[in-house]
This record gives sequence, C-alpha cells and structure tokens, in this order.
Amino acid sequence: MEEKIKELQKQIEEYQIDGKEALENFRIQFLGSKNVLKMLFSEIKSVPNEQRKAIGQSINALKNAAQNKFDQYSNDANKEEETNVSIDLTLPGDAFKLGSRHPISIVNESIINIFSNIGFTVSEGPEVEDDWHNFTGLNLPDEHPARDMQDTFFIEKNPDWLLRTHTSSVQMRVMESNELPIRTITPGRVYRNEAISARAHCFFHQLEGLYIDESVSFADLKQTLLYFAQEFFGEHAKIRLRPSYFPFTEPSAELDVSCTLCSGKGCKVCKHTGWLEIGGCGMVDPNVLKNAGIDPTKYTGFAFGFGIDRIAMLKYQINDLRLLSENDIRFLDQFKATW
Ligand code: DAH
Repeated sequence: MEEKIKELQKQIEEYQIDGKEALENFRIQFLGSKNVLKMLFSEIKSVPNEQRKAIGQSINALKNAAQNKFDQYSNDANKEEETNVSIDLTLPGDAFKLGSRHPISIVNESIINIFSNIGFTVSEGPEVEDDWHNFTGLNLPDEHPARDMQDTFFIEKNPDWLLRTHTSSVQMRVMESNELPIRTITPGRVYRNEAISARAHCFFHQLEGLYIDESVSFADLKQTLLYFAQEFFGEHAKIRLRPSYFPFTEPSAELDVSCTLCSGKGCKVCKHTGWLEIGGCGMVDPNVLKNAGIDPTKYTGFAFGFGIDRIAMLKYQINDLRLLSENDIRFLDQFKATW
C-alpha cells in the first residue's frame, strides 16, 4: 500500500501538464469520478487497524496535492486564454449609424420655421374629413363642377365622409373654433384618386396658410409669399401670381417662384420658363367667411396652399414622386446631412 502511495505521489509530481488536453487527462485520472485515489480509499479496509489512520492521511495528502496541481495549472491556462484574446485598444470605435429625416419632413419643418418667425401658428385637422369642411363650407356645394377637379376617395360606410382632398379643410375648422385674428399654417397629407406615376400619386402633402383679420389685403398676401420665397429659396427669389380660379378664394391666383436652379434663365427643371409653380392662393371668399360664422363686412383674409412634394422635388432635384413614399434606404440615406 505504501509503495502504491509513493508511486502515485511521484506520478502526480512528475505529471507533465503541457496543454488543455493534458490537464483534462490529469483531472480524470486523479480527481474524476473513477480516479485512482478512490481505489486506494476502497483498499483501506485491508490495511491493519493501527496503520489505517496514517495511510488515510497519506491518501488525503495525495488527493490535496492532485487538487492543488490541477488548480494551479487551470488558473494558468485561463490566464493564458485571457491574454491571448487580442484587443487592440488603439482601433477606432464602431461608428453609429445616423438615421436621416424624410425630405418632406425637412421641407415642412423649414417652412414652419419661416412662418412662425412672422407669428403664424401650426394647426392640424383630420385626414378622414366630412363633406362640409372639405367641400360645402369652402363654397363647393353639391353638384359644383369644381368638385371634379379633385377626384375624391369616399368612405363607403358613410358617403358624408371622405379622405380630405386638400388641407383647405382645416381652414374651415380653424375659423369655426378660433378667436380672431387667425394666423396659421397647416401641413398635412391629402388624398386623391389619381393614377400613380412619376408626377402624380394617390396621396401627397400640402401646407395651407390662413390669415384673417380686419383689413387684410392682397398686398399683404403678396408680401407674405415673397418673404416666404426669399427665406426658403434664397434672397434673390422672385414670385409671380397668375390669375386663376378656386371656389374658396376671390380673387384667386397660381403662385410661381423664379427657378432657383437657372436663376430664371430657363432650364430643364422649369421647362425653360424660368418659373416653378408651387401652389394656389387668394383672398378668402366672403361666402367662406360667412359659412364659418365670421362677418365678411368686418373681416377679410388671405389663404394659400403649397404642394410640399413639389417643393421637395424642386429643392432636392428629385425626378420621381414615387421615391418619396417607397422608403428606399438608398434614397433616404442621402438626406442625412441636410438638416
Ligand atoms: N386647395 C387647393 C388645391 O388643393 C390649393 C389652394 C388654392 C389652397 C388656393 C388655398 C388657396 O388656400 O387659397 O388645389
């Protein structure tokens, strides 16, 4: 027995642990569930009583020696593993992916800033609208031929409901529920039943403006639009108003801004006219004021409606309206640096 213990002690001391595999073999041999030391313990019965204690202690010492050797080598192995992980602290970190803002949002935000500088608030209204606010209240009664100008999506369950065809519907709501004077703009999405192409879509964006007070004049409208054009398109921008027709304004005009790309000389974008059409405007029709409960003998006002998609397309030279609603990251990524 003593011989065996000495032999095992020698084996433990001299065991070459030169890698993970050797360490594992050592563990199995001396510490595993069927290790050789256990066999020694089981042989203790055959040892004469007076020697048992000493033999037991020797086997225990062997066990401790095996455990110590194992612990020491496994610590070393772990340390080695840790230091082998190559971390280069001088490498630059991973860059954060910046999100980008949608060109429609960028344009809306800059127009809101421009108008809030001259005291305009921002209003909102529902996209599912009733006939009164979208049509009848705005001087477009049933059977009015101008209703055909705006191919409407009606809500099947209730023909009085529709998807608003223009943000002018919010004019009515604001006039009905606000104290005068009113100075507000309304950005929003509108819907029309149009075939989808590079130049038309069944939904798009408008921004409505409304100013009602005593003695608001057409000159105020012109000056406000000129101020906007120069703030948005640059200080050399000019505006042009072409007589037009809208049921809710009288007189009415179409608003053009001088082409900022060719400075009015004529190019592909302005179709060689030197002018870009960006919306409609006019003096609020007295009938509309009356419909909203405002006294047209005391108050006057102007209104305008811009096509936001069109302005974004001109500003960023986007040649297909559909790009604005396809959520193609390759397209949207380009607007990272623009705000
Ligand atoms: N609502 C008109 C449209 O969608 C645009 C418009 C024209 C709005 C004249 C106005 C306005 O407020 O005064 O075509």
